[in-house]
Amino acid sequence: MSTVVDRLLDRLAELKTEANAKIQEITSEPQVQDLRTMYLGKKGKVSEVLKSLGDVDGKDRPKIGQEANELRDFLESELRSGQTRLETARIEAEIAKESIDITLSGMRAPLGALHPLMQVRDRMIDIFSGIGFSVVEGPEIETDFCNFEALNVPADHPARDMQDTLYVRENIVLRTQTSSVQIRTMLAEKPPIKVIAPGAVYRNDDVDATHSPMFHQVEGLYVDESVSLEELKGTLEYFAKEMFGPKTKIRLRNSYFPFTEPSVEVDCTCIFCKGRGCRICKQSGWIEILGAGMVHPSLFEKVGYPEGKYTGFAFGMGIERIAMLLYGVDDIRLFYENDIRFLEQFR
Ligand code: PHE
Repeated sequence: MSTVVDRLLDRLAELKTEANAKIQEITSEPQVQDLRTMYLGKKGKVSEVLKSLGDVDGKDRPKIGQEANELRDFLESELRSGQTRLETARIEAEIAKESIDITLSGMRAPLGALHPLMQVRDRMIDIFSGIGFSVVEGPEIETDFCNFEALNVPADHPARDMQDTLYVRENIVLRTQTSSVQIRTMLAEKPPIKVIAPGAVYRNDDVDATHSPMFHQVEGLYVDESVSLEELKGTLEYFAKEMFGPKTKIRLRNSYFPFTEPSVEVDCTCIFCKGRGCRICKQSGWIEILGAGMVHPSLFEKVGYPEGKYTGFAFGMGIERIAMLLYGVDDIRLFYENDIRFLEQFR
């Protein structure tokens, strides 16, 4: 008898299944609004069912009305959770896209390093600083007086030869030795003086495996009221052990420099064969590392120190030479060519 009611209830149940299936399949947010309009809108499918309510018996109307409202509520809540599902998925996708994968290895910027010659220079500075020497510097463009005259190298001395010295103009040279800083320091200060002077020096030499027109030296000068040759030896022995290893020994050989008296050449036990004799030390077991001596009294006179009051020692060594020994480099040119393959070995 109540076929209209049954038909409407069936229709509502049908709409529920149909709409729910569509809601579960939505993949974009505009679809949510489309489905809402299609089922819950004024002209939607649920409203359509309610329009037929006029055909239903008065007593059955609340039942249909209630069913329809429940369907509305159900669909609305499903649509909302569908909407939420889509929003969550969208946000998660955005986060995933923006996140940084910290497990990926980055691009490393190439790191430079101090030039091997500067590393050796700094090592020397460290060693001598440790025993009370302070660092001073002098100019590379130097007066004839500081580079030669005051160091007992008079105008006719063979060391002045155009072959050795690069002249800037008359009486101005590119310093041929850091010994010029001995004079500058003594002119500026009174003893006690205990300094080292690292820096570049220049000579009119042709380039080969052991010569370069520019190279580097470290000068040392210690002047006080009773500085002895023994202290010179002790100082240089300490240096050699620090630089080349604790078993290193040194020996002093008689030599000549115009500005020291006596003058010595200092050898250390060959760092390659530990003194046993090899190709590098020409089977002697010894390698020359520097020149030194007691400051010639005439230098004190030239800088105006009172006669007989002071004694001192001085030494000078080539940074390239020490670096070549230390690293087993057999060609000085390698230091100046800036070939990365060479330089990166000293990082
Ligand atoms: N100036 C000397 C050279 O260049 C080295 C030296 C320095 C020798 C100090 C004695 C004292 O060969």
